Amino acid sequence: MKRFFGLSVVACLFVGSLSCQSEEEIKRERYITEGILIYKNNCANCHQNKGEGVAALYPPIAGSDYLVNKNEVYCLIRYGQQGAIVVNGKTYNRPMPPQPQLSDLEVAELITYIYSEWGGEKKLFDVKQISPILEQCKKSSTAQ
Ligand code: HEC
Repeated sequence: MKRFFGLSVVACLFVGSLSCQSEEEIKRERYITEGILIYKNNCANCHQNKGEGVAALYPPIAGSDYLVNKNEVYCLIRYGQQGAIVVNGKTYNRPMPPQPQLSDLEVAELITYIYSEWGGEKKLFDVKQISPILEQCKKSSTAQ
């Protein structure tokens, strides 16, 4: 797979065609493909396949106004969330368990998927940008 993407990028550069996708776009699509699987396996039992949530128990991710708090979202995916939060004007107050089984790359893939599917952001959230933020949340969660 890696080899295939590498070759297609080289071919694009060679031909110089405008129809070729950028390397970043190819990477974003790969992140999303992985992100969908990770979401189904780790998140959908509570937040549901279409991100709609479950009544007052599990908040929706689709159309959630909470997604603007990016750093908090990154942190809660890794470390879970306790205490009341307000999503689209409704209060939720159930613990979300931490997800220590997910690597930094998997968290970045999930974030790329969630924000492009439900947050209207057509960009790559590269693991290189996400890792230092996850490291920061670890520090602040152990400082409490
Ligand atoms: C056991 C059920 C459960 C699982 C599994 C779970 N969550 Fe949550 N999630 C919750 C609950 C409950 C809250 C609200 C927490 C609170 O009330 O403080 C929440 C909050 C959130 C929020 C912030 C509020 C919103 O809806 O925008 C996001 C984003 C989120 N979860 C994403 C995820 C992702 C991504 C995964 C998979 C890695 C996941 N959750 C797995 C139960 C779960």
